[in-house]
Amino acid sequence: MCGIVAYTGSKSCQHLLLEGLKRLEYRGYDSAGIATIENGRIRVVKTVGRVANLEDKLEEVGGLRGTIGMCHTRWATHGGVTDPNAHPHTDDRAGICLIHNGIIENYAALKTYLQEKGHTFSSDTDTEVLAMLIGELYDGDLEAAVQAALREVTGAYGIVVMCEREPDTLVAARKGSPLMVGVGDGEFIIASDGSAIVSHTSQAFALEDYQVVKVTPTGFRTSTIHNVPVTPKVQQLEIELEEIELGGFSHFMQKEIFEQPKALANTFRGRIDAKEGKVVLGGVATLAKELIRARRTILLGQGTALHAAMIGEYMLEDLAKIGAVAEYASEFRYRNPIIEEGTVAIAVSQSGETADTLAALLEAKERGALALGVINVVGSTIARETDAGVYLRVGPEIGVASTKAFVGQVAVLTLLALWWARRRQMSADQCAEMLRHLETVPEKIERILAQDAQIRRVTEKYVERENWLFLGRGYNYPTALEGALKLKEISYIHAEGMPAAEMKHGPIALINDGMPAVFIANRGRQYDKVMSNIAEVKARGGHVIAVATEGDTQIAKHAHDVLYIPDIPEALSPMLAVVPLQLMAYHAAVLRGHDVDKPRNLAKSVTVE
Ligand code: G6P
Repeated sequence: MCGIVAYTGSKSCQHLLLEGLKRLEYRGYDSAGIATIENGRIRVVKTVGRVANLEDKLEEVGGLRGTIGMCHTRWATHGGVTDPNAHPHTDDRAGICLIHNGIIENYAALKTYLQEKGHTFSSDTDTEVLAMLIGELYDGDLEAAVQAALREVTGAYGIVVMCEREPDTLVAARKGSPLMVGVGDGEFIIASDGSAIVSHTSQAFALEDYQVVKVTPTGFRTSTIHNVPVTPKVQQLEIELEEIELGGFSHFMQKEIFEQPKALANTFRGRIDAKEGKVVLGGVATLAKELIRARRTILLGQGTALHAAMIGEYMLEDLAKIGAVAEYASEFRYRNPIIEEGTVAIAVSQSGETADTLAALLEAKERGALALGVINVVGSTIARETDAGVYLRVGPEIGVASTKAFVGQVAVLTLLALWWARRRQMSADQCAEMLRHLETVPEKIERILAQDAQIRRVTEKYVERENWLFLGRGYNYPTALEGALKLKEISYIHAEGMPAAEMKHGPIALINDGMPAVFIANRGRQYDKVMSNIAEVKARGGHVIAVATEGDTQIAKHAHDVLYIPDIPEALSPMLAVVPLQLMAYHAAVLRGHDVDKPRNLAKSVTVE
């Protein structure tokens, strides 16, 4: 949710911190702040708004000097979006300065305790409470004070702390919110994800839950919050700089939409043996026996990941003939679910950090389910909690509105369904045929992307309308949900997605003259039924935008506008049908003048409930 970057070394660090913070701005962007230790004193500059606003403010105050510092972009949870609530937070006694991602759940009780001890607070945040608590417990050893404070805390945190009295030391700790430590030559950079580290060093390690690291320019020490020493695994960061740069595109979302063919080719690499009709998934091989015997699957996710999970649900039942249900992780975790023997829970998540998805997976595991992950970020929390899994390999996704991760998730779920199907009842020939079609997806997406200008023209016609419907059936019902979500997220147009047949049960009342209704009307089992639904909308004055199969000569007679996608078996069609919907949402947001990569109120990764 929030972005964290901190540095200790020999370089003057303001510029370096801000550069890292810009890379993390997609994680949260309602306020930003920075602090360094300058001549033995902590100096903090913070402001509501973007990192650019912070840069302006820094210029006004003449900048910050110092070779140790920290900075933060915030996505508000406790306390409104105000300057005092922005991070870093300081204490009122010991010269403590702290940045935090997560929520301190017992902050109210801790605050009362600290107020009784005479501390005075200047913000409404849970984070300031933690800064004060560390200050209260500080007795000449920052690491010990942080450990002691965290033993009193419930909730989630990724924190970095510094102290005037130890002016080259950073202490960081994690529970639930990711933190990486980049290990350089005489310098360290701590950040909430690797993209803020990679331009300085490619050697890094991830902190585990309840771990604390103390770093100075000369070295580091890791331990638990109970001060038991631990040895982290320093690894090579697998991020290329070009993956996190715009490279000629106007927005990350646009770049990521156009990257989809390449991203999927990566997802497929080495995993498809179309000749033999085989799917090779190294990540689940160790559990093959248990998986083959499985009776039921539960797919868990939130947002876009849930929509991919819903397509997975259709595929697992249709292709692999295994019972499947997709659920909001946030609902599953609290509804006292029954997990029968032979259940496999599949967490679908781009970041691998979504709090609800993680909690739901742990709940399922606790009740006896085998845990699989369909995750993009390697080594993320959810990935580490699973028994086995398949990574998306689509590269870092920076645009807040998820695009290439969605097609990656659907692609991996397709591979998983075919892997299972082949081991249950599908013949090698049938599987080989599906795989041959699957391999055409990247090139077919390329053909849709080539229609970008036309998709923009169609979007322009309707961009002033405030209410849209997205309708689809079967495999493309979740695609309709995803199309509506994309439009809502970045253009702030009210859009509803639903199964086309459901329209008659209420939403049809909304249709008035010129209301845009996007139908996913590609060739498939329910094509005729979708055509009837189109007629119903048209009869009531709605304007139909159809996503249809190339060569469908009928559809243009019924729809006001048609966007064509190449022919492909129905089960694979969501990966194509979603692309024009992503582009429509993108163009609508640009045409309305919105900041596509930083939509209001959203965060890329939701690490709190
Ligand atoms: C947030 C993002 C969505 C994303 C959802 C799940 O709400 O804004 O784009 O789909 O979280 O994220 P995950 O990382 O678990 O896929």
